[in-house]
Amino acid sequence: MIQANESDILRIGKVLNDPTRPLKERFRALFTLKNIGGLIAIDQIRACFEDSSALLKHELAYCLGQMQDPAAIDILTSVLEDLSQEPMVRHEAGEALGAIGELSVIPLLEKYCKDPIPEVAETCELAMSRLRWLQSTKNTKNLQNNLFLTIDPAPPTEITDVNILREILLNEKKSLFDRYRAMFSLRNLGTADSILALVEGLRAGSALFRHEIAFVLGQLQEKISVPGLQASLENTEENEMVRHECAEALGSIATPECYEILHKYLNDSKRVVRESCIIALDMCDYENSSEFQYADTLAKIAA
Ligand SMILES: [Fe+2]
Ligand SMILES: [Fe+2]
Ligand SMILES: [Fe+2]
Repeated sequence: MIQANESDILRIGKVLNDPTRPLKERFRALFTLKNIGGLIAIDQIRACFEDSSALLKHELAYCLGQMQDPAAIDILTSVLEDLSQEPMVRHEAGEALGAIGELSVIPLLEKYCKDPIPEVAETCELAMSRLRWLQSTKNTKNLQNNLFLTIDPAPPTEITDVNILREILLNEKKSLFDRYRAMFSLRNLGTADSILALVEGLRAGSALFRHEIAFVLGQLQEKISVPGLQASLENTEENEMVRHECAEALGSIATPECYEILHKYLNDSKRVVRESCIIALDMCDYENSSEFQYADTLAKIAA
């Protein structure tokens, strides 16, 4: 948490809500508000759901979930219910409702498990499974803590064998929740073998599943995943939410090769991909700057 007074928060909120400001500044303002937390910051984030950028709006929802403040439940509920919001934004609102961890949203999530948009329906199913898991387990703390300091859509499993985890990850007959649990276990292992198993996941399962794989590869920041991420970003047939997440993962890996790949897609026909490349290049700069050591204004960009 950052200490800030009301006028500071409103000033940062103004940057977030100003469509004439460069997108990367607005993202940095958003992550600063997330780190400040509290009702005024939440209100500044709420105001931005009118924006025209799906990328920015999905990040608003992500941040509200990561803040885990029940004060955001009403906002996220209306975003999930608003069919004029892009699927990617509604997906992130559903995931955020699971991240906050209040069981009262279970009936709402249950309703949207039947949403005609697969990304939304699957997200709500996962969020519901997460909440039920929290409800049923007495030892939530140990499994929830991870090195990456994110609230994940599913807890890891207690399995540590990469081959078994890989088998679960890639097995389309398993539930999405179990496959996600394997995914987070593979991430937490962080070995070359576990990362390569995750890279295989970029070519398996639903768009939602593949985008989450790209997200965790971004958290891992290992060069070994660059070819896989590059292939998915370059595949214009791939779902734009997946391509977006691959771009941002490349941004957090931030090698000279990543810069080069990202520059190629700054003019992609999909707005979400173009904007992701802008943000990813800012992440590259951030990772390679001294700012990285001191500032916590830009946490890892979201799934
Ligand atoms: Fe997410
Ligand atoms: Fe994302
Ligand atoms: Fe996402």
